Amino acid sequence: MSPLHRAATHKASPRDRPRRLRSTAAVRRLATETRVHPGDLVLPLFVKEGLTAARPIASMPGVVQHSRASLRAAVEAAADAGLAGVMLFGVPLVRDATGSGATDPEGILNLAIADAVDAARGRLVVMADLCLDEFTDHGHCGVLRTDPDGTVVVDNDATLERYTAMALVQARAGAHLVGLSGMMDHQTAAVRDALDAAGFSDVLVLAYAAKYASAFYGPFREAVESTLEGDRRAYQMDPANRREAAREVAADVAEGADVVMVKPALAYLDVLADVAATSPVPVAAYQVSGEYAMIEAAAANGWIDRRRAVEESVVSIRRAGADLILTYWATELAGWLTEGTTP
Ligand code: PBG
Repeated sequence: MSPLHRAATHKASPRDRPRRLRSTAAVRRLATETRVHPGDLVLPLFVKEGLTAARPIASMPGVVQHSRASLRAAVEAAADAGLAGVMLFGVPLVRDATGSGATDPEGILNLAIADAVDAARGRLVVMADLCLDEFTDHGHCGVLRTDPDGTVVVDNDATLERYTAMALVQARAGAHLVGLSGMMDHQTAAVRDALDAAGFSDVLVLAYAAKYASAFYGPFREAVESTLEGDRRAYQMDPANRREAAREVAADVAEGADVVMVKPALAYLDVLADVAATSPVPVAAYQVSGEYAMIEAAAANGWIDRRRAVEESVVSIRRAGADLILTYWATELAGWLTEGTTP
């Protein structure tokens, strides 16, 4: 029976005093249905080629593009805070049509993976974004093809070849998990097979199974200096669709995904709850750049209480069913969570 159904059939009695369970901080702690633990959190990190010091991202106050050295420090802080993992995004200096930098073992993301693995010393899971958009000069998540009628499309199967090559380079750099964020059909199967054939059967695959074409990625585009013109609606999902998410998740699970993700988080909690109710593998949710920026901007204006808004947004994502939450507040939030454990 669902919680709502149970509540609807519950017979009210004059002895019912729900407020008793809210009466003191100690009682509320006992009655809470949802807890967030540092081990549920993953910190996304940006590393930019050629930087000698971290550089702020204007649209994401408090988030930076890291240099290789500052990235190591951020990974160490994340491990000290007890986070589940870090998700790495690379920002190269040079881009081209096929995103060559993504498969260059000396490319910024691949160097950063090795740095992060070294800094983490096994204390957290080092995850690498597996997508081409940061490396292509056109900014799309795959390689382009011009059809006979002149339309330019992202070529699904040609892109899979780039993804499998990228997966092998990332695995050789030491990535524990690859995060497939490109929304190409069959990307999970292609990458799983390529990893297995090369002896990397222990490398995990996280599939961005239900990734929507969202306006909430806006600040991320500044973070990775995206060159995209137009949009990604021909591969990312329509925000109006819920049933379609089940289809995407089922496909990724069948193709061997170890973790499936819903993204963004807050505007898609219904989708997240659906996925969490049926997924046989852990479910992640990505609290994206726009979700971060909105709370930071409102808090900077004094319009909301920053800490409470951050905590409420993350607990909501957990309550909807996420096992793992990618959030730019991960390290700071983990500090608050552990500070609250001794009453
Ligand atoms: C694409 C990618 C995006 C994000 C993560 N991976 C942007 C996009 O799809 O346009 C967005 C993350 C965020 O907004 O925080 N590889």
